[in-house]
Amino acid sequence: MLIRVPRGWETPEREATPEEVYRSRRRFLQGAGVGMAGFGLAALGLGRVLDPFAADPPGIANLPALAAARNPKYKVERPVTSERIVAGFNNFYEFSTDKGEVARLAERFRSRPWEIEVRGEVEKPRRLDVDELIRQMPLEERVYRLRCVEAWSVVVPWIGFPLAKFVEWARPKSSARYLRMVSFNRPGEAVGQRTQPWYPWPYYEGLRMAEATNELALLVVGSYGHRLPNQNGAPLRLIVPWKYGFKSIKSIVRFEFTREQPKNFWNVVAPEEYDFYANVNPAVPHPRWSQATEKDVATGRRLPTQPYNGYAEFVSHLYR
Ligand code: MTE
Repeated sequence: MLIRVPRGWETPEREATPEEVYRSRRRFLQGAGVGMAGFGLAALGLGRVLDPFAADPPGIANLPALAAARNPKYKVERPVTSERIVAGFNNFYEFSTDKGEVARLAERFRSRPWEIEVRGEVEKPRRLDVDELIRQMPLEERVYRLRCVEAWSVVVPWIGFPLAKFVEWARPKSSARYLRMVSFNRPGEAVGQRTQPWYPWPYYEGLRMAEATNELALLVVGSYGHRLPNQNGAPLRLIVPWKYGFKSIKSIVRFEFTREQPKNFWNVVAPEEYDFYANVNPAVPHPRWSQATEKDVATGRRLPTQPYNGYAEFVSHLYR
């Protein structure tokens, strides 16, 4: 029997990806200024930041507008990253491991209608349409840093509502100690689920209740003033900005309140590489690479990684 060993983010792409895909990704990254030329220019301080994408990625042209006032409390000292990058450079393994291909492969994914299930340690398990949930929640815009465990980062204006509001609405019992979240499993529409059957689909994540109800944890339904595009996790995703990006699960279909600590996808795939907490920490290197710095995808510049991705004042007390 042929056993495919699952791979994390550690495998060089040329070993992991078919040649043609790898080449198109290289062209993409060179165009994106993420290749060496881009870094060189930025490092020389030529002072000109080019918008690296020649055209909008698929899937963002006709999204319904979504208005929400920006919450000024959450400040980021770097400029907001262009949407062409945030919607054109994605990790979403259900579609592809090739960041430049996700938008195209996710374009026809049906992210509406979309049913959400709430179950486990709650007073009343229920199912409801995502838009019915969104109508009951207070929407706001928050500009947050997003830091991937692969050591790249972007700054995004998300639109959503505090996960704490959702938890309140869901009425968990006092026995609920964790919140488990699960993504869709639709290999017919998500080509990456078909072609990478060795992954334990669907994608799943979890938080301790104190993390889920921390003010920073956001359930996101929009970005850049419109509904969330498929490639960024439509119709509903999590953003926990003090943790590595893999905790910020996309396209959630189920919320389950549990007594025991749930497993998370990447920890199951490669336990020695990805843990449950996954808090951004420059002092703890990933087994295969340093986390001391990160690459701003927009400029190619290397920046020092900040503890908790710059959000220590909000969350460090959770981990004493
Ligand atoms: N959620 C699902 N369902 N599938 C994924 O592959 N990738 C994670 C996270 N959420 C992922 C996911 C990783 S590794 C990162 S860095 C972020 O999504 C990327 O979010 P973005 O593409 O919107 O920047």
